[in-house]
Amino acid sequence: MTPNIFAPASTPAFAIRELAVFVIGITGVIFFLVAGLTAFTLVRFRRRRGDDGREPAQVYGSVQIELAWTVVPLLIVVVLFLVTARYIYAIERQSPPPDALEITIVGHQWWWEIRYPKLGIVTANELHVPVSDPARPTPAFITLQSADVIHSFWIPQLAGKMDVVPNKTNRVWIEPRQPGTYVGQCAEYCGLQHAGMLLTATAHSQEDFARWVAEQRAPGRDEAGARAGRERFASLACISCHTIRGTPANGVFRPDLTHLMRRSTLGAGVIPNTPQMLRAWIDDPAVLKPGALMPAMKLAREDLDAVTAYLLTLN
Ligand code: CUA
Repeated sequence: MTPNIFAPASTPAFAIRELAVFVIGITGVIFFLVAGLTAFTLVRFRRRRGDDGREPAQVYGSVQIELAWTVVPLLIVVVLFLVTARYIYAIERQSPPPDALEITIVGHQWWWEIRYPKLGIVTANELHVPVSDPARPTPAFITLQSADVIHSFWIPQLAGKMDVVPNKTNRVWIEPRQPGTYVGQCAEYCGLQHAGMLLTATAHSQEDFARWVAEQRAPGRDEAGARAGRERFASLACISCHTIRGTPANGVFRPDLTHLMRRSTLGAGVIPNTPQMLRAWIDDPAVLKPGALMPAMKLAREDLDAVTAYLLTLN
């Protein structure tokens, strides 16, 4: 699905499309009026064979014309301003209904940390929310923070763009009306991998969302076959950046890996999460995502295989 603001799927995005159509309508009429009159004048009053080269009579100091070209544009600007202010106010002043979902999203160079504080879920880059039923609305109210530089959260089909600023908390809310996966992108230049800072939001039916929540809350599984890799992983620097719940890995600087294999991409959307890609990523992330801040682990082949095998069990 393409991130198209004219194909909204969530309450604030519907309002934004309405406003956009209104503004394009007014400015479109002005454009065709001005361009049409200009074209008409160019043709109608062009130089013809036999013209004597003198200018026609000029008009100076017409109060009526000057008033018209001052007052009419002023009125148009006032209308655009008031209508826009009304839409912004209506979206920003929305307070969460009782069943609203609370989410905190933290922008990092170059990935999105996604937390559901009341549900005890931490994930990355792939946002999951329920479809909201107008009879019992369950919008998601999102608190936006940055761990480093300015990013911008934008999933065009769900809501307007909102900057993610260090030392400042911004808020945005979404209320998807139909199930689907909506794509988004960091919308503020934030360094080398700005373009590689993708995110998706999947809107599930209430039942599917409840299932997703249960899966995410479950502790990671401990598979006997992966024990060697698990021990190797626990001995590496990985654990000071990444968390895997129920293990010594409790770092908070990089994505939580507890349910890594339930995510469909690695590196914030730049590569699919397949066993081969995962192995290559652990070996040297910069090959797949130049500038990625995770260092190349350059593990010995057996260690790389063992750690990959372990991470592949994190369902
Ligand atoms: Cu983050 Cu651009």
